[in-house]
Amino acid sequence: MSEEKSCYGFGVIGCGAVSDTHIQAIKQIEKAALVAVCDVREEAARAKADQYGCAYYTDVAELLARDDIDIVNIVVPSGLHAKIGIQAAEAGKHVITTKPIDITLENIDRLIEACRSNGVKLATTHQLRSYPLYKRIKAAVSEGRLGDLLYGSCFIPWFRSRDYYGGGRWQGTKAMDGGGALMNQGIHFVDLLLWMMGPVKAVAGFADHLYHDIEVEDIGTGVLKFANGAHGIIQGTTCTYVGLPARLELHGTKGNIYATGDDTIQLWQIEGEEEIYGPGFTEAKGGASTPDAGNVGPAVTAHVEQISDVIAAIEEDREPTINGPEARRAVQVILALYESSETGQVIHLD
Ligand SMILES: NC(=O)c1ccc[n+]([C@@H]2O[C@H](COP(=O)([O-])OP(=O)(O)OC[C@H]3O[C@@H](n4cnc5c(N)ncnc54)[C@H](O)[C@@H]3O)[C@@H](O)[C@H]2O)c1
Repeated sequence: MSEEKSCYGFGVIGCGAVSDTHIQAIKQIEKAALVAVCDVREEAARAKADQYGCAYYTDVAELLARDDIDIVNIVVPSGLHAKIGIQAAEAGKHVITTKPIDITLENIDRLIEACRSNGVKLATTHQLRSYPLYKRIKAAVSEGRLGDLLYGSCFIPWFRSRDYYGGGRWQGTKAMDGGGALMNQGIHFVDLLLWMMGPVKAVAGFADHLYHDIEVEDIGTGVLKFANGAHGIIQGTTCTYVGLPARLELHGTKGNIYATGDDTIQLWQIEGEEEIYGPGFTEAKGGASTPDAGNVGPAVTAHVEQISDVIAAIEEDREPTINGPEARRAVQVILALYESSETGQVIHLD
């Protein structure tokens, strides 16, 4: 049943690095109000509450007990997303997780089922889908302007220092990160690639750690066979020399697109369209407008769109655009790559 309120109360669980993006987005949404934050580290929770003017808790159950919270944003270490999401669903709250939705398919399926059976919405933020550049590319693909897609690849070479994985942090651990360069960083572009190219039916790959002393990969490479027959490659690393932007390439019978980073088209070559190429051509120069959401970065603006979509989904009684099954796909492909690396087999997906 649909419900409509003049304002939806939000609780943000996790007060670390990425929580500000969610909180700042909530603050910009007219129908949203930040009610409370929660972190097991009291000083982090209190600091966030002081900064943004809301209540704080160190116990998730206490935050979830509040009647004035409708939606929770889960921004804790990745291996806790489903556990806390299920707790929230059982308390009747709609659930938004940051990426990845969780790190195992079993946990993700339990979370999807918990949200379904408790009648609450489930969404995951994959903010790049809301960036003007990637919307523009998606439109070209959806309109068939690239012809039949034959090939798609992404390369995410986001260097991380040894300190990033050190000092008892959850990053780089099997239990909480679930993977490394692909599960944590690369998933942003793996999700984009699947969004553009469609479902994957087979994966083969390698995942290793060559530089960092971690339990998971700092370099991963996979070959994909898409359901439409197209081929693909995914590459992610946190150890190649710092400074390279991530890139996405799509090639079809009628066009080639090569984009880097948040906003740069390196090559736009489509039959019957003006050709665009060369570094420095940004989406802004390309004529499409960047949504004006005040003085905030593109990640916050993109989160405003994706969190607003969850409110719309509640009111329209529909699934959020990036719902549980949709967010599960990138995790499934990355886990298949790990399995292939361990077994030496090609992994076929259902
Ligand atoms: N979308 C993006 O661009 C983006 C960027 C960075 C991180 N992330 C994701 O956000 C999540 C958090 O990453 P981060 O960089 O903010 O990590 P972080 O370590 O900076 O913050 C995590 C916070 O969660 C708290 N926490 C841990 N267990 C908790 C529990 N049971 N209850 C309440 N709080 C708990 C920790 O004390 C910490 O403050 C990860 O899943 C990560 O993949 C997304």
